[in-house]
Amino acid sequence: MSDQPTVLITAATGNVGPHAAAELLARGARVRALVLPDDPNAGRLPAGVEVFHGDLGDPDSVDAALDGADGVFLMWPFFTLDTTTAPAVVAKITSVPRRVALVSSVGVHIGLEPVDNNCHAYLESLLEPTGAEWTFLRTTGFFANAVGFAGQVRGGDVVRFPYGAATRTSVHERDLAAVGAEALVTGGLGGRALLVSGPEELSQARQVEIIGEVLGRPIGWVDVEHDDARRAMVDTGWPPSYADGALDYFAALTKEPEVGSDVVAEVTGRPAATFREWVHERVDAFR
Ligand SMILES: NC(=O)c1ccc[n+]([C@@H]2O[C@H](COP(=O)([O-])OP(=O)(O)OC[C@H]3O[C@@H](n4cnc5c(N)ncnc54)[C@H](OP(=O)(O)O)[C@@H]3O)[C@@H](O)[C@H]2O)c1
Repeated sequence: MSDQPTVLITAATGNVGPHAAAELLARGARVRALVLPDDPNAGRLPAGVEVFHGDLGDPDSVDAALDGADGVFLMWPFFTLDTTTAPAVVAKITSVPRRVALVSSVGVHIGLEPVDNNCHAYLESLLEPTGAEWTFLRTTGFFANAVGFAGQVRGGDVVRFPYGAATRTSVHERDLAAVGAEALVTGGLGGRALLVSGPEELSQARQVEIIGEVLGRPIGWVDVEHDDARRAMVDTGWPPSYADGALDYFAALTKEPEVGSDVVAEVTGRPAATFREWVHERVDAFR
């Protein structure tokens, strides 16, 4: 691996991708981003990133972006298990020796996401037997998921959502990106499945309280009933089995907090960001 590896980021313009680009650039990598041709968010990528148009649903469209890439920061944007394109894309990525950092999920770590019903577990199973120097980033939820509360916060003083007592160890997207960048540029993390979490256990209701503290006005929480929440999730396009999985997981997290780790600090040498720090960075979304 050269001192200045070329790394391709897939699903590059979402919550994690721009951070991944910045963290890779900061470590001296040349960075490519696979971006849908009509993606309105391409401008979120930092300067210096080379954009390649392609669609992960069309494996051949990824060829140009992969040609000459030493590593892949692999994010899979689809919910459903895809036994056609996912193997084809993984085969292309692993057709030559490369480092691959896959954004996977805590659900795989704790056995909640079975290989036959989940894209993260399935992608891990595809990469594992290959010769790639893979690292699985089994992440907890993102702080950015709290943007889902922003409309209610802007419009009032209460958030209605299921399972306010569900306690997670969510992580700043930038910290997840930094762990992936270390795996891809610095190396030494090949063959490792890392549980990537934030530094603290926070219930969803407490997250909302912290948003209120940063805004300077109290924001309350009202629990939405399980069945009503499920209906709303399915109506917005969640596959029913995923809605059930997520809600059952949240119900379990009201009894026992999500697992966590010190991986961010251990791998990056800097403390993992707190949720309050993230809210300060993103406060405009809640105003
Ligand atoms: N959120 C969580 O708590 C959580 C937890 C565990 C794991 N993850 C995983 O984290 C990864 C990254 O999540 P994220 O929040 O950064 O994603 P995101 O914000 O939803 O962004 C998805 C990205 O993928 C792009 N995309 C969509 N369809 C595509 C296609 N056919 N070909 C190429 N690109 C496509 C989107 O482009 P457009 O903007 O143009 O649609 C966007 O850039 C995902 O793999 C997710 O499964 C998330």
